[in-house]
Amino acid sequence: MTLQCPEGQDIVIVGATGDLARRKLIPALYNLYLGGLLPDEGKIIGFARGASTDEEFRQLAADAVTKFSRQPLDRLRWPKFSERFSYVSGREEGYAGVKRRCTLSDRLVYLSIPPSAFGPTIQGLKDAGLVDGTHLVVEKPFGHDLASAVALTETIHEVFEESHVFRIDHYLGKETVQNILVFRFGNAVFERIWNRDAIDHVQFTVAESIGIEGRGAFYEETGALRDILQNHVFQVLALLTMEPPSSILAEPVRDEKIKLFRAMRPLTEDDLVRGQYTRGTVDGSEVLGYREEPDVAPDSQTETYAAVRLFIDNWRWGGVPFFLRTGKHLPLRTTEVVISFRDVPIPMFAETHITHLPPNRLTILIQPQEEILLEFLAKVPGPQIHIEPVTMRFTYGTSFKTKPAEAYERLLHDAMQCDPTLFARADSVERSWEVIEPVLEHLPPVRPYAAGTWGPPEADALIAPRTWVMPGLEDQ
Ligand code: BG6
Repeated sequence: MTLQCPEGQDIVIVGATGDLARRKLIPALYNLYLGGLLPDEGKIIGFARGASTDEEFRQLAADAVTKFSRQPLDRLRWPKFSERFSYVSGREEGYAGVKRRCTLSDRLVYLSIPPSAFGPTIQGLKDAGLVDGTHLVVEKPFGHDLASAVALTETIHEVFEESHVFRIDHYLGKETVQNILVFRFGNAVFERIWNRDAIDHVQFTVAESIGIEGRGAFYEETGALRDILQNHVFQVLALLTMEPPSSILAEPVRDEKIKLFRAMRPLTEDDLVRGQYTRGTVDGSEVLGYREEPDVAPDSQTETYAAVRLFIDNWRWGGVPFFLRTGKHLPLRTTEVVISFRDVPIPMFAETHITHLPPNRLTILIQPQEEILLEFLAKVPGPQIHIEPVTMRFTYGTSFKTKPAEAYERLLHDAMQCDPTLFARADSVERSWEVIEPVLEHLPPVRPYAAGTWGPPEADALIAPRTWVMPGLEDQ
């Protein structure tokens, strides 16, 4: 169903004084404004429990922009932008206060709140007459397991149609992730080898050098599997592996993604290694072990690292293992996909005593480096056959001389334009819970790893006889 999109909307941020609003949402709106991408009309209404004034909210927004914005606060342009800000205290006025502040008949309501607050919030919007004309943006986590995800969808669908719901997975807003579709389907040369005939295996790493950053209570309930793998990694993996959609419009893309999710084989206990960091050194500084962090149980069994072996049971991918890993307090920050192609038949080079040739590899560096590298073999100049891997490299910064917008800018803009292409549909969210559900019910034990290392040794056994590619080594 095509969504009728209004020309202008008020923007309502529910949870407006929280971390996400300050770090990402308010700076993203400001950058859209600077780029001329925010409609001329419409208020930005902050909603949170506590008492505050419009003026205090403006100050909070100014501080957020000063601290976290991609572009610095422009003293000349700020006053006009900040005139749009208005604050409503949930305790004092509730959603009726939001209704009173709205200046237009359409609005984007961004729920930056924990899932436990969803039910009352949606009811509050309904009671205040804020359903017609509302497009709802929902932040992860979309549930804690399959049952809670289904319940969450039902709560939303009791009041809002699916076509009015935008589930944010901010990884889908990253430029380098969006480029995956162009890279795959705009270049015939790669699509032809994008399958089990040519590919031996795929590695996908989301490594973070940061720890849990004071979010102990949240993380204890979540863990690496739910925080990163089930959503960010699966969503990007779907773009990497789905069949070509009939067009890059929202529903054809989302239809191909759900087919892919359906072909993912549900995990078993043997497919998962869980780790938890102990004391160690990251970026030259000593850090505490996870169990010593505030709001974390001294005997916590929550994983800060997860490595998974996944299979996609369809004609394109049958038999190709996908190794996915993510962790906190790893040696460096990188998100990257490495596609290893099959080995060449050796006998051809037997005369040269070469016994093993490294495979061709295609590496997609998603962040913080934004590059695509193709490694292949070349003959070292000289009278004999010496072979070495060499690299062809595409770097966004060098080719396009521009710094990409933040993911939240792109996604907020798309939601305002009513374009759901980069948002997760309910069916794919539920299916991705189904894939990990068996291991949630039978979690393997957490294995310790020292902060600043690449995770527990058990993860090496998971990928054996292959080995994990060491991120950062391309640069040596
Ligand atoms: C969030 C997780 O969804 O993504 C955080 O809750 C994580 O734990 C963050 O740090 C990573 O995002 P990015 O864009 O920095 O890779």
